[in-house]
Amino acid sequence: MEYEKWDEVLAPYDHAVEELKVKFKNIRKEFMAKGEYSPIEFVTGRTKKIASIISKSQRLNIVDIESEMEDIAGIRIMCQFVEDIYTIIELIENRTDMSIVYSKDYIQNFKDSGYRSYHVIIKYPINSIAGSKEILCEIQIRTLAMNFWATIEHSLKYKYEHYIPEDLAVRLRRAADAAFLLDQEMSEIREDIMKAQVMCQVKSVTVRDVLNKIQELYNLGETHKALVYQRRLDKIDNERDIAEIIHLKREIDNLLQQYNSNNKND
Ligand code: GTP
Ligand code: MG
Repeated sequence: MEYEKWDEVLAPYDHAVEELKVKFKNIRKEFMAKGEYSPIEFVTGRTKKIASIISKSQRLNIVDIESEMEDIAGIRIMCQFVEDIYTIIELIENRTDMSIVYSKDYIQNFKDSGYRSYHVIIKYPINSIAGSKEILCEIQIRTLAMNFWATIEHSLKYKYEHYIPEDLAVRLRRAADAAFLLDQEMSEIREDIMKAQVMCQVKSVTVRDVLNKIQELYNLGETHKALVYQRRLDKIDNERDIAEIIHLKREIDNLLQQYNSNNKND
């Protein structure tokens, strides 16, 4: 195939990768905006390189890449805890803009290499000026520890052109066991970690809220009151006290409410 032809074939996959990255990043944003814990830590995506598509087709005797190669479009979702992986799978199952074709659970059945991850193959519709078509996409869901291991192992595979020396492979499997233990330990203190993170998150959402309300006071011409609240917020912010910030928010809320009802009575 000439390169112009490849561009045409790969365009819908590029498109899908871009859209899916935005969609999964937005799920994280939605949780954060509500001051809730996000099961998604970060998201990456890529369209498979032409050279890789060609060599995989040759290796697996693939004739029609669009129906037979599932990972031309690839999304990777990283999370903090193994439990989050199952939350994300549920989120995907409940979506109406993509459908699951099948899954590969390399967490229950990890690979001999030591690789762990949950893979979901989805069908995803792409609309372009040429019309609409469904493409396949591979979503890999893994913890930060699984990702750390897979990234290192992948670069070693690359270095040794897929034939990792046995002694190194043994050490990699030991490292995979350590990553597995790390995930288990983290799961055990998960509740405490989550609470601490949500506290931080609630605090930053509330501080932003209070800042907006102080701005509102400025807009109402209440410069003095706005300044007083601003100083109080600065003081609390230094002391990192969430209860105080919520208290301050209530006070400003009441004040603003009074303004609003006064205006209605005018
Ligand atoms: P390919 O491995 O892509 O040829 O396809 P496959 O049909 O064998 O699917 P599989 O589920 O085995 O692998 C899909 C993808 O998972 C790979 O492209 C990698 O991104 C990842 N993966 C699978 N096994 C390993 C592994 O042992 N190490 C690392 N680092 N990644 C792996
Ligand atoms: Mg494979």
